[in-house]
Amino acid sequence: MPARRISFVNFKGGVGKTSIIVNVAACLAYDLGQKVLLVDCDAQSNASIWLMGIERWNVINSMPGKSVYGMFIPNLPPVSNNIIPSVVRNERGMHLIPNLDLLPATYELMDLEEEYRDGQGEPFFYRFHEHLRSTFNHYDYVLFDCPPNLFRASKCAIFASEEIYVPCNPDKLSEIGLSLLVSKIDRFHKQTVLQQQQIPTFRPAKIRGVILNDVDGRAQLEGMQRYLRLTIAKARQHHVVSEDADILGQQVRKAILAAKVVGSFLPVNLSNGSSGLKDDYLNLARFIHNTPLYKEVEHGTDRKTEQPRRTAKRAS
Ligand SMILES: Nc1ncnc2c1ncn2[C@@H]1O[C@H](COP(=O)(O)OP(=O)(O)OP(=O)(O)O)[C@@H](O)[C@H]1O
Ligand SMILES: [Mg+2]
Repeated sequence: MPARRISFVNFKGGVGKTSIIVNVAACLAYDLGQKVLLVDCDAQSNASIWLMGIERWNVINSMPGKSVYGMFIPNLPPVSNNIIPSVVRNERGMHLIPNLDLLPATYELMDLEEEYRDGQGEPFFYRFHEHLRSTFNHYDYVLFDCPPNLFRASKCAIFASEEIYVPCNPDKLSEIGLSLLVSKIDRFHKQTVLQQQQIPTFRPAKIRGVILNDVDGRAQLEGMQRYLRLTIAKARQHHVVSEDADILGQQVRKAILAAKVVGSFLPVNLSNGSSGLKDDYLNLARFIHNTPLYKEVEHGTDRKTEQPRRTAKRAS
């Protein structure tokens, strides 16, 4: 069965997209035994630096074509050669999470937004999908970290995904622009029908839910959540939002460790000491893992169907 492919998207910067993807990826791989590929689609390269450490990342940043952007440079070896297997290592090079691989970003990914010109009949997002397609069968999950915009790199990730989660901060709930995000994704799906038809198993990505991050126990969330649920309900008519989309009950608390751990170049689940934050990421990873959008219905074929409505633990 090909990998579940999930993008973490929000226009808004600094809401926790990278923190969530790095830690959910680590929990899926380390705690839940899943084979995971994280594809860094953000030229800031925060996820790549976090998982590789700055020294290892500096080496690939100085080598053109050794990152995810390699697929947009003509005549290079397959981009799968740029995947770093078992990316999380200690100083002695020991693999700490054998199941977690990374296709890193470097600063050259900025060129996708400006300098890159589409080849004939091959728009950038189609090229991205085609270069990655062969990897989908080697993983349980392919997760895409996106920059805080809906420019080309994000569109690549969305076109290659079947599911989208939207991280946001509770104090910025009203600003997340979910309805704008929905209409932009809807438009993108409509603009790409021709390319979708060239991919036999293609299913356009649907928003599965909103993940509240950096939640302070004292925050008053009720009013904002009501407003957000209304937006989600309205957005269902676009088919860009899955039937079961909701604000997930699996929130991530505000914790100093979330920021501190970045400098150790380890995900939270490998950090020392106990913290409720570890549980939050693990609960979130478990929830995502237990609620696939599609399931096999016909043995021996690749046909899948949408799951019946799941019952998410409600955010309170
Ligand atoms: N649960 C949390 N508690 C406290 N701080 C957090 C939490 N989650 C993330 N942060 C901090 O918030 C900042 C932004 O997080 P992060 O980089 O994950 O956001 P992002 O959405 O990926 O940002 P960008 O849009 O720039 O890519 C970082 O300094 C991070 O350490
Ligand atoms: Mg980020």
